[in-house]
Formats: sequence, C-alpha cells, structure tokens
Amino acid sequence: MSDRAFKGSAKAASADAKIAIRQLSKSYDLGHDQVKALETFDLSIHDGEFVCFLGPSGCGKTTLLRMLAGLETPSQGEIVVRRQTQDRPLTSMIFQETSIFPWMRVRDNVAFGLRIRGVPRLEQQTAVQHFLDLCGLGQFADAYPHQLSGGMKQRVSVARAFANDPEILLMDEPFAALDEQTKITLQQELLRLWNETRKTVVFITHSIDEALVLADRVIVMSGRPGRPIADIAVTFPRPRLVHELKAEPEFGRQWHQIWSLLGSQPQALPEKVK
Ligand SMILES: Nc1ncnc2c1ncn2[C@@H]1O[C@H](COP(=O)(O)OP(=O)(O)O)[C@@H](O)[C@H]1O
Ligand SMILES: [Mg+2]
Repeated sequence: MSDRAFKGSAKAASADAKIAIRQLSKSYDLGHDQVKALETFDLSIHDGEFVCFLGPSGCGKTTLLRMLAGLETPSQGEIVVRRQTQDRPLTSMIFQETSIFPWMRVRDNVAFGLRIRGVPRLEQQTAVQHFLDLCGLGQFADAYPHQLSGGMKQRVSVARAFANDPEILLMDEPFAALDEQTKITLQQELLRLWNETRKTVVFITHSIDEALVLADRVIVMSGRPGRPIADIAVTFPRPRLVHELKAEPEFGRQWHQIWSLLGSQPQALPEKVK
C-alpha cells in the first residue's frame, strides 16, 4: 500500500480514511488579486463510501475534485489518499460536459484507459463488453459519439470510468445537463454499477434530490471560500428507487434541512476577495 500526498510529507492517513483532507486551502492568483476558492477544509472519506457535495456556485467544488484528481496542488494543507494497489488507476473523473473522444468508436472510448495501461486485449474486451451492457450501450459499441444522444454520451463516460477500474470515482455534476427522465435513468444505472463495485465515489451535484438518492453522506459547503458546513448521513436502504424514496417523509425532512443550509450561504460574489 502506498499513499499519495499532495503537500508536505506523506503522513499516514487515519487508519480507516481512504481520503484525508486536512486544513486544505486553495487560492488562485489573478494578476494583482487572489481568489480564495477553499479555506481550512477538513474531511475524511472512507473506503467504499458514496459522498455527494452540494454548495453554492463558485464555492470550490470543482477545485476540490481537481485536487483529488491530482490536477491542482493545494495552497496550504494536504490531501492524503490511501492507495490499495499500484495495479489500478487511483482515480477516474467524469465531467458535466462530455469528454469522450469524438473520433473513437464507443468501444474504443470505453477501452481507452485499459489500453493505455497495457491491459491484455482479451481482458479489455471482456471489461468493455461488461460495462457497455450494464450501461445499456451493448448495441452501440461500434457507433461514433456524434451518433449518440447527450444521455448516451454520458453513459459512455460512465462505462469508461468503471471499465478503467479506478479506486476512486470523481464525478463533477455528470448528469446536470441532461433532461429529467434521462437523469433519473442514469442515476439508477450508476447506483447499480456502484452496488456491484462499491468504489469510493466523490460526486458533485447542485441537485438536493440527486444527492439524497445517491449518497451515503451529503457534505454541504459554505459559499466561497468553500468549507464543509454540514455532514449529513443518508441512511435509506439500498437498492434505492428514486420514485419510492421521494415518497418517504425522511426524504422531505432531509431535503428541507439541506435547502435551509444552502439558503444560509451567500451566493457567488464577485471574484475579488483581497
Ligand atoms: N483556474 C482558475 N484560475 C482562477 N480562478 C479559478 C480557477 N478555477 C476556479 N477559479 C475560481 O475559484 C472559485 C471556485 O471555482 P470552482 O471550483 O469552479 O467552483 P464550483 O465548482 O463550486 O462552482 C471561483 O471563484 C472560480 O472563478
Ligand atoms: Mg464546478
């Protein structure tokens, strides 16, 4: 096992934390000014947890995810990720905008990470077929992205991320641009895939419904600079069905709790803070 630390020495993460975020701050330099995106952010995420982050626009959610992916470095503090193995990728990211390669067929898009890692061809094919089938794309393996709807393209992104078999899935509002029906279908598919794999998932959303349907924990963030202001356990039994959950009184209670927390935070302010 080895840890990945993004700042300072690689201290061991607390025994049961997959991701330990400690006193994390991130500022961006804008010429003479600075934007403080995140400030003194502390949080532990456990192996196999499905955690949703909700917060006002501009509070640093994407910044946090990019730091978890190793694409940005903290200004202060650290993120320590406990790695299980060197044989699989640590993270895969799914974005709101489709990020699949337009010149590749669906099956090649889904195989991409495996190919880069030099996974044997037969193993690649088996994994690709498995996740294409699970994502309802079995018949579209040879299609090109321009032949697919927005929802199907996001399915390809989801299939590609799972086929790549990372330890942690990072999802940045992946269903936000989809129509309601497609969104709900994809949420159910994601839940099924997660149930099968039990990966650690960090999922950003601006939908309270989505957070409550998907998550084990919902972290509500303050306005910029972002930090956690609430850590809410979501304990509805799994498997979950969206329409059944929404009829639960507890769903309504938690929905209102999160709504009030978000309402207590200022919305995005002009960029300059210094
Ligand atoms: N690369 C960057 N350079 C400068 N400022 C940035 C950069 N990325 C994000 N920011 C700023 O950091 C703040 C947080 O952005 P972001 O993480 O995208 O928030 P969210 O995803 O919660 O909407 C915003 O004020 C944004 O303008
Ligand atoms: Mg964002």
